[in-house]
Amino acid sequence: APWRATVLTLFPEMFPGPLGVSLAGRALAGGIWSLEARDIRAAATDKHRSVDDTPAGGGPGMVLRADVLAAAIDAAAIAPERPKLLMSPRGRPLTQAFVRDLAAGPGPLIVCGRFEGIDQRVIDARELIEVSIGDYVLSGGEIAALVLIDACVRLLPGVMGKLESGTDESFSDGLLEYPQYTRPQLFEGRAIPDVLTSGDHAKVAAWRHAQSQALTEARRPDLWAEWQARQPREQSRTS
Ligand code: ADE
Repeated sequence: APWRATVLTLFPEMFPGPLGVSLAGRALAGGIWSLEARDIRAAATDKHRSVDDTPAGGGPGMVLRADVLAAAIDAAAIAPERPKLLMSPRGRPLTQAFVRDLAAGPGPLIVCGRFEGIDQRVIDARELIEVSIGDYVLSGGEIAALVLIDACVRLLPGVMGKLESGTDESFSDGLLEYPQYTRPQLFEGRAIPDVLTSGDHAKVAAWRHAQSQALTEARRPDLWAEWQARQPREQSRTS
């Protein structure tokens, strides 16, 4: 069975959106993965089809009702082995390691939050795993879900060529990507670094690795500390 994403949202028209074109879109059309966007509102029961209500204890905004969302989750009839995720800025950070795990499985159910939040009891009762794509607040979980699905789909077998998929190792090995160049050799007075046109593949590899280390140290001290801690003791900076 191909990898599958089931999305619960109040805005199903946002899917597949950008995932309908380019790499992910081609793979979707080719049956490598599938997408089902389900409208949470379809699970509303009252005559006004209401999905939210004012927060218990007072305060601004609206909260997604536990009964409606639970009914929407149950109606999706998700196989028990599929992870049930809730996109939320207070969730577990999405990392490449987590993406790899999700891509290797059957594919998740993804609940997209809206309003000021969703009733805590449905998170608890349906054991939703909260996932954040970063420390900023989006207006809803839909764009976060698109990010998560895109990151998974590009790892599915047959989506990228074998050569390109190796590019992923760069982030997987914990360092930022080295800079890339192509023709023309001279652009506005800036030349391609000589080593890249030297034909010495060992020297090219060493230069790229040193660039990756320098970039990571300068821009991401968090990743740099982690990477250094993982290196065998007597290894030097450019090895
Ligand atoms: N919903 C709103 N902000 C979000 C974030 N940063 N990550 C995941 N879901 C979200």
